[in-house]
Amino acid sequence: MQLFAGGTTPFFQAIYRFGVDDLPRQLRRQRVLRLFVFAGTCLLAIFAGQACQKRDKPAAITLTLIDQGWVNKDTRDRLNEELRLFTTESGIRVEVLPAPESAVEQLATWRKLLQARAAVPDVYAVDVIWPAILADDLVDLKPYIPGPEIAAHFPELIANNTVNGKLVALPYNLDTGVLFYRIDLLQQYGYRAPPKNWEELESMAARIQAGERAKGNKDFWGFVWEGASSEALTCNALEWQVSEGGGKILENGMITVNNPQTIRAWERGARWVGSISPPGVVAYKEWDAFNIWQAGQAAFMRNWANAYVAARAPGSPIQKTFEVAPLPEGRAGLGATLGGHGYGVSRYSLHPQEAAMLVRFLCRRDVQLKRCRKTAQPSTLPELYSDPEVLAANPYFSSILDTRNKIALRPAATSGKKYPDVSRAYFEAVHVVLTGKKSATQAASDLQIELQEITGLKAP
Ligand code: GLC
Repeated sequence: MQLFAGGTTPFFQAIYRFGVDDLPRQLRRQRVLRLFVFAGTCLLAIFAGQACQKRDKPAAITLTLIDQGWVNKDTRDRLNEELRLFTTESGIRVEVLPAPESAVEQLATWRKLLQARAAVPDVYAVDVIWPAILADDLVDLKPYIPGPEIAAHFPELIANNTVNGKLVALPYNLDTGVLFYRIDLLQQYGYRAPPKNWEELESMAARIQAGERAKGNKDFWGFVWEGASSEALTCNALEWQVSEGGGKILENGMITVNNPQTIRAWERGARWVGSISPPGVVAYKEWDAFNIWQAGQAAFMRNWANAYVAARAPGSPIQKTFEVAPLPEGRAGLGATLGGHGYGVSRYSLHPQEAAMLVRFLCRRDVQLKRCRKTAQPSTLPELYSDPEVLAANPYFSSILDTRNKIALRPAATSGKKYPDVSRAYFEAVHVVLTGKKSATQAASDLQIELQEITGLKAP
């Protein structure tokens, strides 16, 4: 009877309490037999019940999704609307978890959760720079998403999100660095077009800034951007550097930072601080730059295409007085950083099948089309860039498509799991130049040594 005595369920305890040892042998056997038949029937009923529950009540599943923190109310409302539609279609509810604002803190949070093998969240937003870093902890989406649906996205995004043959995230939005400019101010100061190169940007920004200040707006600035020691500074400085021909930090198996073009590009950025850009720009992340610009206090802003949605939102003070253009060019042409996100499914999710359904839904053509019929972040499906309704709601999509081939990738795929260290070394080096703690020449030479230690690569 040791087995029953050790049983912890009420079912086993009831059998034990029945006291079969007290009965005559024959009767005892019959009773034990009847009990086992009864027990078997009960167990079958329980399992069958559970199976029915699983089949009949998929709504009992609630998935959790963690998205980028850098979204405005409009984008969040739209995501919630899409999630409601997903629930109607599938019976599966979705909760969105709060996330930190910046890419570095987001990645730290994502990694902590995945390293702890947390069952929640089921779905993670995956920045274009993270696939190699998170690949081991995300499922391969290929078995869950039909091939043609994968092939419908920009091939470079699919390539970017594929690590050792595994599709770790399905692209959700495409982001790139762009120049926001005030149409009204350009007209007032006699400019017909946004600046084509950095010199034009500098002179236009300085002139508009001086004019606006002379009118009494003492806090007006020419150009705002992201100069805080953060991933966004890696993106800004990479754009300056690439446009001057200084290379993409790591390129063709070599480190490309300690060269005259890069040094010149960083020096120019440092010159802006306190002249056409506020001294505080060295602490600005995306929202800080955006808030000043949206308040009408700057003529130009470097930001992501996704800031377009927030700037065009009803009630935005500059809703109708701005446009976006490709970033100004340097001596080597255009440098615009590729950004954006996909969605991936955690290996530790208890509902990988349903989570993959959610990813598939959010990236699906009809869902993206509906999203892009209003002001939206650029789609990941090339086909939508020729849709008249999409273009009418988002005229800036055409310039994204035009500059697509010139977009600079951060060296995330080449440095793999070391990318956070590479990027940190880079943005810290640029930051000390912007804050005047080191000359650009010194910072570039120190960075070269640091990147050699991190990556084992050499200079050309
Ligand atoms: C934007 C981009 C992302 C980038 C981040 C940096 O969210 O889409 O790719 O890493 O900004 O702050």
